[in-house]
Amino acid sequence: MRRLLVCGTIAALAFGGGAERRGIAGGGDPSWDEKIRPLFVRTCAECHMRDGEAGLDLASSAAWTRRRADVRRCVVEDKVMPPSGRAFSDADREIVRAWLDGNR
Ligand code: HEC
Repeated sequence: MRRLLVCGTIAALAFGGGAERRGIAGGGDPSWDEKIRPLFVRTCAECHMRDGEAGLDLASSAAWTRRRADVRRCVVEDKVMPPSGRAFSDADREIVRAWLDGNR
C-alpha cells in the first residue's frame, strides 16, 4: 500500500493550491464537460471539491490536467480511487483513461 501513501502525500502537498473559483468548472473544455463532469459529479465531488475532505480539488478540467499523472495512477492503474464502496465501473475507468490519453 506504499502507493496509497504516496497519493496521500501528494494530496497533502496540493492542499491550498489552485485558484479555481468555487464550483465545477469545465473551463471551456467540452470534452471534460461531456466525458468527465458526469462521473465526477456522481462519484468524486463528494470528496474532491475545493475545500473537500480529500484536500485535492479536482472540480475542473484545469485541475485534472495539472494532476493527470496522479489521476492516471490512482484511478486507471492502481484503482484506489474512488474508494471502494462507490459505484465505478470498468467502463467509467475507460472513460477516464481515454480522456487522459486524448488530452496530453
Ligand atoms: C470518499 C471520499 C473520496 C472519493 C469519493 C474520491 N476520493 Fe480521491 N481521494 C480521497 C482522499 C482522502 C485522498 C487522499 C488520500 C489518499 O490518497 O488515499 C484522495 C486522493 C486522490 C488522488 C491522488 C492525489 C495525488 O495527488 O496523488 C486522486 C488522483 C483522486 N483521489 C482522484 C479521485 C477521483 C477521480 C475520484 C472519483 C472517481 C475520487 N478520487 C473519489 C478521497 C476520495
